[in-house]
Parts: sequence; structure tokens; C-alpha cells
Amino acid sequence: MSDRSELIVTGKEFAFDEERDSEFERLIKRYPTRESMILPALWLTQEQEGWISAEAIAYIADRIGTFAVKVLEAATFYTMFNLEPKGKFHICVCRTLSCWLREKQAIVDFLADEIGIRPNQVSEDGLYSLEEVECLGHCGTAPVVQVNGEFHENMDVDKMKALLATLK
Ligand code: FES
Repeated sequence: MSDRSELIVTGKEFAFDEERDSEFERLIKRYPTRESMILPALWLTQEQEGWISAEAIAYIADRIGTFAVKVLEAATFYTMFNLEPKGKFHICVCRTLSCWLREKQAIVDFLADEIGIRPNQVSEDGLYSLEEVECLGHCGTAPVVQVNGEFHENMDVDKMKALLATLK
């Protein structure tokens, strides 16, 4: 995993696609100040690209009309923003107490065997990435897995196997 104070420079220009561009314009009218759009703009970027590059930070700052360092501060503060490329399917397994007690490790080990990656790795084909994360806020239905932000609760190895078969 990269140091969260360092951004990756891709050398490629970044811009919102048509869908995110109109969503940005729709949202910005609803916020009291343009700087309030920093977090929504970061989400739109992550939704589009899967992660946030140095070019994306500069683009967001420009669109909002603020300093890039302010966008950078938000992107590096919140761990849910990915500052490096992830797989097409980014799999997060909760590692906090309830999920740990309910054998999240069996799921992580299954994924390691099945797709050949450990936490903080991306599969060679770019299809999957795996991350262990802190409490996802659904402790009553542990263990919890998120794939591209979608929750899967009461997981076990069999359910993970069935879910993985849908991620192609
Ligand atoms: S401990 Fe896993 S969701 Fe809270």
C-alpha cells in the first residue's frame, strides 16, 4: 500500500465523464459553498476511476475553484478514498472485533487461495484487489464484506465463493 501522503502521477489528463460531469453540476447548486463539493467530487472521481490520482486532485481543485492542497487534505484524511489503482472488483473484508470473532480470516485465506492475492494486493489481471478494513458498521451481521462499496453480510467461505463467481 502506498504512503497516504504521496499521490500517484499518471501523466494522463483527468476529467469527469459526461454522467459525473452533470452530477457535479447538479450537486454544486445544492451546496452552500463551492468548497463543500470537495468530498462529493472525490466520490464521483472514485466512482469513475476506482481511485484518485494526482491529476484528479488538480482537476477537482480547478473545477471547484480552490487550492489543490485542500482537496489533497480531504483525500488523504479519509481512508475510504483509494490513492492507488484497485482491481475492477475491490473487495474489502472487515477485520474488526465482531468480524474477526466470526472468522473473517477464513474468508481472507479463501480469497488468497482462490485469486492469489493477500490484503493490499491487486491480482495480475487487474480484476480483483483485496483490503482489510476497520469496522464497516454492520457488526450485528458479521462477518461483513464490501465489493465496490456494496455490502454483503453474514458471510462465510461458501457465500464468498458464490459471490466471487459473480464477479467477472
Ligand atoms: S466489526 Fe465488522 S462490521 Fe463492525
